[in-house]
Parts: sequence; C-alpha cells; structure tokens
Amino acid sequence: MPGIVTKAIFPVAGMGTRFLPATKAAPKEIMTLVDRPLIQYAIDEARAAGIREFIFVTARGKSALEDYFDRAPELENLLKEKGRDDLLDILQPTNMDSGAIAYIRQNRPLGLGHAVWCARRLIANEPFAVILPDDVIAAEKPCLQQMVEAYETTGGSMVAAMEVPPEHVSAYGVLDVKQDMGAMVSVRGMVEKPAPGSAPSSLAVIGRYILSPHVLDNLNRIGAGAGGEVQLTDAIAEEISSGRDVYGLRFRGQRFDCGSKAGFLRATVAFGLARDDLRDDLSRYLAELGPGRHGAPPG
Ligand code: UTP
Repeated sequence: MPGIVTKAIFPVAGMGTRFLPATKAAPKEIMTLVDRPLIQYAIDEARAAGIREFIFVTARGKSALEDYFDRAPELENLLKEKGRDDLLDILQPTNMDSGAIAYIRQNRPLGLGHAVWCARRLIANEPFAVILPDDVIAAEKPCLQQMVEAYETTGGSMVAAMEVPPEHVSAYGVLDVKQDMGAMVSVRGMVEKPAPGSAPSSLAVIGRYILSPHVLDNLNRIGAGAGGEVQLTDAIAEEISSGRDVYGLRFRGQRFDCGSKAGFLRATVAFGLARDDLRDDLSRYLAELGPGRHGAPPG
C-alpha cells in the first residue's frame, strides 16, 4: 500500500537568467501570470492534491517569497477598515498556517537534484511530491491530483509526462518506455537532455514528481551529470536500476513553460482568455492584431 503524499518540495533556488534583468532583484516565481504570482499556481495545485506541508528550497535574493506567504497585518487592517472583504478573500490563499511552510537554503546552484537533496532532512521515510513552479499546467483536474490518484494504485515513483516534437526532446528528461498502458507508462530508463537523434522516445518529463524516499538516498550517492549539475532524472533512473518501479503519467491538461519568455507570454494569453473579466477585452485585442499585423503566415 503506497504511503500518503502530504509533503511537497518547491525548488526555487535557480537564478532565472532567462528573465534578466527582471530576475536581478525579484524572484522568477513572483512574476505575475494575470494577477497571481507563478508560485501561487503551484501552491494551489499542491493544496488540491492534499499537500499539507510545503518545503521551499530557496537562495539569496528570494526573500519576497517568504513575505508573500506571511500575514500582512497592516494591509489586512486597512482592507478591513475600508470594508473590502472582496480583497481580503483574494488574499486568503496567500496565508499559510504556522509551521506548514519551511524554507531551506541551497547555497550554491548545483542543479535540481541538489536542490531536492537540500530538503532531505524534512522528508522522513515517506513519499513526497516535487513541483517546479515554472511549469504551469491548465487542467480541469489539477495535474498533481491526477498523479496522486494514479499513485494510490501504482506506488513506486511517478513523473508527469508529455509528448513533445522530436526536435525539442533534447531540452528535457526523456522516458525509455517499458510498457505503454495508455495514460500510464512504466519506465525502463530515463535520460536527461539526450543528444539529438539519441532520445529513447518523445515522451518528456515535466515539472511534477511523486518520489519514493529512496530517491534521496540515490541523490546522496550520485555526482554531477548533464551540464555539470546534479540531475534529479539520474536519481530517479537509479530507482529502476535498484529494481523499484517508476511510472510516467500522461496527464490531462496543457503545460506552459513559464521559465521561457515565449511560454510565459502564451500562458498570459491563455489564462487571460480563461477569465470572465478579461476574455472580451483580450480577444478583441487579439482579433484587432490579426495575422497580418504580427507577421504570422497566412492561413
Ligand atoms: P531552470 O533550469 O529553469 O533554471 O530550473 P533557472 O535558474 O530557474 O532558470 P534559467 O534557466 O537560469 O532561466 C528548473 C527549476 O529548478 C530550480 C529552479 O528554481 C527551477 O524551479 N533549481 C535549479 C534550483 O532550485 N536549484 C538549482 O541549482 C537549479
């Protein structure tokens, strides 16, 4: 019987160089998608999946994240005085119960695997989730919830998986599929950023994981991998070598790579169009632009 997943690690210690100069003084995860910072989407998804303890792996310059999830008594009192219960309601999801959130520092950016390893002492012998807030997923049922439900029958470790065009696979961790069961695949191996033409499939790993605690032991042992970083992919692949099961779930939903500028802009448009208060305005503007106005090929 697989354990219940109640803890999630949010690795947010990266430098966010693709968004410089914006990320010189403000963390990437505080950047705003419509009217909420990226990190809020990740926390909401975790809550929907039953996560109760939130572990942030942070770094220098990320203190805005801590303030964001703290109470803001002056602001709350002002809103109360003005009778703005609507705005107080909007602030509600930014409040964390005392002790529900922990911050650990990664003092050198040695990679995603290293960031997860930094949180090892806060994970006992239990499965845990990892959420990369850069990957924002629009889905009827939140992606991590889909994974938790699937995990209840599989156990082992599970990654969120998505088909990507062959010319893009080298940017991802890629699954070597043992058995394809439709939405779920069992995994024979995983390769981080395979050289062009050498990828075992076009099924890529994106930023949602449910991991067995053994993955933390594996991270203890392995050294730097692709790009000189400690790769989480390598530590998950070790599970397979040790005879433990790893699965990929083709989640239902649309993933936006908000770690890239083009992905962030796409997400802004998609999430804007999904909002009742913005849809008409935004779609009128997009129609005004028309294909000729922004250089898209006709037809
Ligand atoms: P990215 O590869 O997107 O790196 O990290 P980055 O630094 O955030 O952004 P760029 O590429 O410089 O623009 C993927 C995730 O892993 C975390 C990041 O915060 C992000 O959530 N990460 C990465 C760490 O926490 N520590 C690391 O050493 C590396």
